[in-house]
Amino acid sequence: MRRALLAVLLLATSAGAEPRRHYTLWPSAPGASPAATPELLELGGRVYRGACQGCHGEKGDGLGREGKFLGIPPRDFTTGNFLIRSTPVGTLPLDADLFGSIRRGFKPSVGMPAFAFLSDREVWGVVAYLKTLSPRWKTEKPGTPLELPAPPPRTAELEAGGRGVFMAQGACFVCHGMGGLGDGPVAGGLAYLVGSHKGKPLRPANLSRAQDFKGGRRAEDIFRSITGGLDGTPMPGFGASLSVEQRWQLTYFILSLNPGTTP
Ligand code: HEC
Ligand code: HEC
Repeated sequence: MRRALLAVLLLATSAGAEPRRHYTLWPSAPGASPAATPELLELGGRVYRGACQGCHGEKGDGLGREGKFLGIPPRDFTTGNFLIRSTPVGTLPLDADLFGSIRRGFKPSVGMPAFAFLSDREVWGVVAYLKTLSPRWKTEKPGTPLELPAPPPRTAELEAGGRGVFMAQGACFVCHGMGGLGDGPVAGGLAYLVGSHKGKPLRPANLSRAQDFKGGRRAEDIFRSITGGLDGTPMPGFGASLSVEQRWQLTYFILSLNPGTTP
């Protein structure tokens, strides 16, 4: 039964179909998260067992039976580390961040499906349930949201400046390659840093394929990924080491590798 559900999910999301909602991230949750009442947790537990456990595992350790067959390993929720956050490096995400990842899914869609068919309450329920799977939620609060200013107008100067930061101060090319194709000198030796999948290999993103970005492809999404990094992977956060201007330069440089993409 569960296997059948997964097959449907994978079919529904692997045909290159856009998730029903526009592919954006912030704000992505309807209003504030409801209180984690026993009823909400119970609903979330049911959703988890029906739609998530097969990949993410009963304990949330990312070692579910079906998950083992995926090229990208399912997140280990016991670490409390998440790729997509609007909070600083190493901190817990906001409930709204988790809501967005579950609703939108990740691209490439062979990994995390988009759960467009769950009701808002079911998604909030499973968010509440996920937070019972790592002890970190008992002792830590979500990080203070990152400062994410509105994007400046896109200019040729910003793009050109971005190439410089990419090669020099940011040293992005080391992983992402000179042309941003994900083929830098150390690209072949990267691995997950935490949890059940620690040591398993992963590749840097091909920056000329913004449509595959997990955190979204708008200028503000890319800026956020550069600022907060993708926790649990070797992709660092540059909020402390690069200025706001340098991060916008990089953002527009990356968009310039994606002709036809509107920021
Ligand atoms: C078909 C397998 C599969 C199913 C089913 C699945 N996931 Fe995932 N999920 C993944 C994979 C693979 C990743 C890791 C993707 C990556 O690292 O690119 C992931 C990642 C995540 C993340 C991490 C987001 C981040 O920022 O790091 C969350 C949250 C998540 N899943 C929640 C859920 C929930 C909730 C459900 C059920 C409603 C679910 N998943 C069902 C495969 C699955
Ligand atoms: C140590 C290696 C490393 C360095 C240095 C690095 N990255 Fe990454 N980056 C990665 C990896 C690995 C991923 C993919 C992680 C994943 O998908 O799980 C990634 C993903 C990304 C993504 C895709 C985000 C998304 O939403 O999917 C962007 C954009 C990005 N990097 C930009 C940059 C920029 C800009 C720099 C320099 C300021 C940089 N990276 C430096 C390893 C690196």
